[in-house]
Amino acid sequence: MHIDHIGIAVKDLEKATETYRKILNADPTKTEVVESEKVETIFFQTGESKVELLGGTSEDSVITKYVNKNGEGLHHVAFEVEDIKAELKRLAGEGFTILNEEPKKGADNKLVAFIHPKDNNGVLVELCQSISR
Ligand code: CO
Repeated sequence: MHIDHIGIAVKDLEKATETYRKILNADPTKTEVVESEKVETIFFQTGESKVELLGGTSEDSVITKYVNKNGEGLHHVAFEVEDIKAELKRLAGEGFTILNEEPKKGADNKLVAFIHPKDNNGVLVELCQSISR
């Protein structure tokens, strides 16, 4: 497992993109809207990992709700795995609360699933697996 990306929830995606453009001194490598999640994502490549900026595209987006409740900030840490189903099964067996038992299609051509922050010292953990083309 390596850290595939860290997800940062932001209020204003354009402003945040400018900020991270300055911090990383690089342009974003990818932008993508995930309609099913009502979220727009901007990726910056940082070595073998990425920074994923997340902005809600509507008031009832999970990200908009998150930002309204908690403010902007670190939203999740994503670990890349080779077999997400096997990992979810293993972690469920260890007593972790899996938020979506069936991996779903996320941004960046990945299958994703989340583990509840209450089981992870307050950090929402995402597991992701690249979808082979
Ligand atoms: Co993510």
